[in-house]
Amino acid sequence: MLPEEARLLRFVESNARTVASLYGYREIITPVVETYELLSAKAGEEVKSRMFVFKDLGGRDVALRPEFTASVARLVASTLRAQPKPFRLFCAGTIYRYDEPQRGRYREFWQSNYELMGSSRPEADAEVLLLTDRLMKNSGLKNYAMKIGHVGVLRGIFNQEKFDEKAQNSAMQLMDKKQYEEALNLISESGFPDDGLKTLRELISLRGNNVFDITNCMMKCVSAYEQATKAVENLNDILKMVAESGAKINMTVDAGFARGLEYYTGMICEIFVPEFDIALGGGGRYDRLIELFGGEPTPAVGIAHGMDRMMLALQNQSPPVRIVPESKAGVVIPIQRHLAAKAAQIAETLREENMRVELEIMGRKMTKVLEEADKKKLNFAVLVGEKELESRSVVVRNLLTREQKTARLDEIAETIRQRDEHEAS
Ligand code: HAM
Repeated sequence: MLPEEARLLRFVESNARTVASLYGYREIITPVVETYELLSAKAGEEVKSRMFVFKDLGGRDVALRPEFTASVARLVASTLRAQPKPFRLFCAGTIYRYDEPQRGRYREFWQSNYELMGSSRPEADAEVLLLTDRLMKNSGLKNYAMKIGHVGVLRGIFNQEKFDEKAQNSAMQLMDKKQYEEALNLISESGFPDDGLKTLRELISLRGNNVFDITNCMMKCVSAYEQATKAVENLNDILKMVAESGAKINMTVDAGFARGLEYYTGMICEIFVPEFDIALGGGGRYDRLIELFGGEPTPAVGIAHGMDRMMLALQNQSPPVRIVPESKAGVVIPIQRHLAAKAAQIAETLREENMRVELEIMGRKMTKVLEEADKKKLNFAVLVGEKELESRSVVVRNLLTREQKTARLDEIAETIRQRDEHEAS
C-alpha cells in the first residue's frame, strides 16, 4: 500500500480500535503462524482449501491464519479459561487466504475482529450488530445494509430429518454460493422426505427488509420442526433487541442465507454497500467451538470486518470520505550547506513541540524544495539563512498564502501556530 492507501487503512483500523474500546473490547495480539490443526478445525472446506499450509523446519504442519476466530477461541479455552466471563476481545491484522485475486479479494488482507464470549442471550448477538453499525457509521460509510439469517433454522430441519452432518455442511456451502437448486438436489438425493423438501424450498425463498414480517412467515413455514422454530424465535428476539435499542439499521432477513464457515450455530450476518456485491464484514454465533478446543462449553458470537474492502467502499462513495487532516506539517531548509546542523537543530525543537517536520537533506536550491513542498501539500517552510541567523532569526513561510515572516529562534513554533489560528479564524 502506498502512503495514501496506508493512511486510509490506518484510519479504518484506528476507527475499529476506538469502537472496540467504546464497547469494552480489549485488544489481544495473536500469531500469524499457528498449527494447521488449530486453524483448520471447523473452518469449513472452502476456507480449508484456501489456506497457506506448509511444514516448518521441525516438520510440523503449520499455516498462515485464515481468520482470527480459531486463535481467540483457543486462547479462551486455555490461557483465559479461569477468568470471569463474558470476554470481549478485539484483534486487527493481516489474514491469508488463497483466493482468486480481484478487486476487493486479496491473498493477504486485513480484518478487524470482535469476539464476545460467555453469553448465549440475544443481547450478545444484538451487541455485535450494534457495534458493527457504529463501526460503519463512524468510518463515514453511507448506505450500508446488513443481511441477517440463522443457521439454526436450516440445521433444525436437517437434524429432525436425520440428514447427515457432513452432507448438511456441503448443502450449506452451496447455499452460501447461492446455488440453491444444486443444494436442494443434493438434499433430495439423500432420500429427504418430500414435505421436508417443500418446507426448505419455501423457507429459502423468504427474504425482505420488513424483518418482523419475514420472521413471522418463517415461523409458520417451520412450525413442524421444533429446533427450527426455537431458532426463528431466537432470531426474532435478536432483531427486537436491535430495534428497541433505538439503532436505525438497514436490515434484511434472508432465511436461505448460509455462510462458508462451519462453526456457526445461530444468528449469522453480513454487511454490504450498494457499490459492491462482496461483503464488507461477516460473522455470527458459534456456541461449540471453544469446547472443541478443550475449553468449558462457552457460547460465543463475533464478527470480522474486511478493512481493505471498507477502504475501497470509502474511496468509492461520493463524496469520498475525508480523513480529519493531521496536524500542520512543514520543511526546514538550510540555505547554505554549513547551516545543515543548525537546520537539524531547529527541526528538532519543532518536533519537540509535536510539529511534523521534514529536513532538507539533499542540498537542493530553495525554489526546488518549495515546489516539492507544495506538491506534498506541506503547510510551512522554515528558511535557515546566514543573514537572519546573525540576528538569531529565521524566515517562516506560509506555503498556502506565500506570506513570509521573520521569527526569532525561540519563537518559531509560536509563529507557525499563530498562522494556524489566523487561518482558522
Ligand atoms: P469471513 O466472512 O470469512 O468471516 O470474513 C470476514 C470479512 O473478511 C469478509 O466479510 C470480507 O470483508 C473480508 N474478506 C474475506 N476474504 C477476503 C479477501 N480474500 N480479501 C479481502 N477481504 C476479505 C470470518 O473471517 C469470521 N472469522 C468472522 C467471525 C468472527 N465470525 C465469528 N467471529
